[in-house]
Amino acid sequence: MNILHIQEAAAYIRGITSQPWDVLLVLGSGLGGVADMMTDAVRIPYSEVPHFAVSTVASHAGQFVIGNLKGHRVAIMQGRVHFYEGHSMDKVALPVRVAHALGARVFIVSNAAGGINRSFGVADLMLMTDHINFLGMAGNNPLMGPNEDSLGPRFPELTIAYDLELRALARAVAIEQHVSLQEGVYFGLSGPFFETPAELRFLRLIGADAVGMSTVNEVLAARHLGMRVLGFSGITNVARLSSDEGEPPNHEEVMAAAPKIAPKLQTIVLGVLERIRA
Ligand code: HPA
Repeated sequence: MNILHIQEAAAYIRGITSQPWDVLLVLGSGLGGVADMMTDAVRIPYSEVPHFAVSTVASHAGQFVIGNLKGHRVAIMQGRVHFYEGHSMDKVALPVRVAHALGARVFIVSNAAGGINRSFGVADLMLMTDHINFLGMAGNNPLMGPNEDSLGPRFPELTIAYDLELRALARAVAIEQHVSLQEGVYFGLSGPFFETPAELRFLRLIGADAVGMSTVNEVLAARHLGMRVLGFSGITNVARLSSDEGEPPNHEEVMAAAPKIAPKLQTIVLGVLERIRA
């Protein structure tokens, strides 16, 4: 973790829009719509921000949209970079650390994911209750290396990685707005391969409800900084637990499901923002 990089990126953004941020919101593949509802929005492409990596995935716009939403100063990330693109964990975590430097204390994150839980269907939205970090367990995570004690502890704990109060708010909004909301454990791996049926059976066995290629490392950086985290997985495809079951997953299928998920995510995120004091 390079504190100078965090400071230089934050200073650049402050030079464009100086109002402190409350909330960082990351919108996963195809889930970008909320940005259109912000007032006085300023757009900053990642390519202009010092030290930022730019996503190579076509469906990721690659910009911050910073503005006012439901009484909060919100920075939306349209697009993110992934470990599978060849970026370091540091680059994956940098936007979260910069958001914290700019004042954000709440991190709302979303992703596209494959459904492993057999009761999940395509276009379901899942509230993340916890995660399993396959890469992190094997030593790939954004806290490897010397700790920056001014940012957070050497040994952060993750008993409640996903904030209980924010989860309760999300459930309350879902009930009130009649949005069906699944809940479960997100399994984070690197991609870019979709999983084999044997791998998916393994994931189901160890307690995963959904699987995806992002999110976990951003959440780790946020929790290290003491930010409150709320996470959602949009189920864009369901797992094939044997090779003769259903159609193989592909990126087009992921993008086709996203517009069905985006309105649900949007309703819940707006409702949560309305109810929280960041
Ligand atoms: N596996 C991993 N990542 C994903 C999937 C999947 O099936 N769908 C969307 N992101």
